[in-house]
Amino acid sequence: MDGNGRWAKLRGKSRIEGHRRGKTSVRVIVEMSRKIGIPFLSLYAFSTENWLRPQNEVHALMGLLEHYLAVEQAKMMRYGIRLLAVGDRTRLPLGVRRTLEHVIELTSSNNRMTVILALSYSGRDEIVRMTKKLASDVRECKLDLDAIDERLISTLMDTPGVPDPDLLIRTSGELRISNFYLWQIAYSELYVTPTLWPDFREREYLQALIEYQQRRRRFGRTDEQLVDPAPSSVEAGGSKS
Ligand code: FPP
Repeated sequence: MDGNGRWAKLRGKSRIEGHRRGKTSVRVIVEMSRKIGIPFLSLYAFSTENWLRPQNEVHALMGLLEHYLAVEQAKMMRYGIRLLAVGDRTRLPLGVRRTLEHVIELTSSNNRMTVILALSYSGRDEIVRMTKKLASDVRECKLDLDAIDERLISTLMDTPGVPDPDLLIRTSGELRISNFYLWQIAYSELYVTPTLWPDFREREYLQALIEYQQRRRRFGRTDEQLVDPAPSSVEAGGSKS
């Protein structure tokens, strides 16, 4: 959700004002996702690297998060939204962590939509944590080396049971992944918009979804194979796309 700072700077406002406005975009995009039936929505709200920002900005962001969770939990219950979080939540301030865990628990049986907040998250950190779990299970002879495959690794990441994202939207025109979902986005479609996150609302979101609908997802196969519903005829080799 990039561009809050730039949005504020362009208007002579504080970065925190940009984040406040960005919080409204979060509300709008969750609401719209629910209405159009998006089953899983992940929001990269705070990266591991964001801890290095000035103290007052980190503090304000944590306050916005806690306020968002406190206010939106009623709506999550009303609309059957389940909340999950990815990242190292042990680093979060106690108040934020408690509120987060309360809302995760409260909404755990909801099944109409899942919102996943990435908090104190980085893709590399997630891979390191997953590798430690794997290594420890192998060392304690709970896991055979040959049992390690992509499916097992997926279950040990922060997103077990969550399908890989179909679409990754990057706001503010940045052409990089910034350590997000490094494992999960292997085959996600990328959409980059120059729109700054605080201005990313219904219209921009619809534009992204419409463009996504026009993509052809081949998952390494050829166009011709896409019209053939029998993937068992796929031969080894060939380039991925
Ligand atoms: C990146 O923009 C944005 C963040 C580090 C924070 C995102 C937080 C919110 C949208 C508000 C709270 C979140 C929730 C889930 C309620 P930036 O500050 O790096 O912008 P810049 O690149 O223009 O400086």
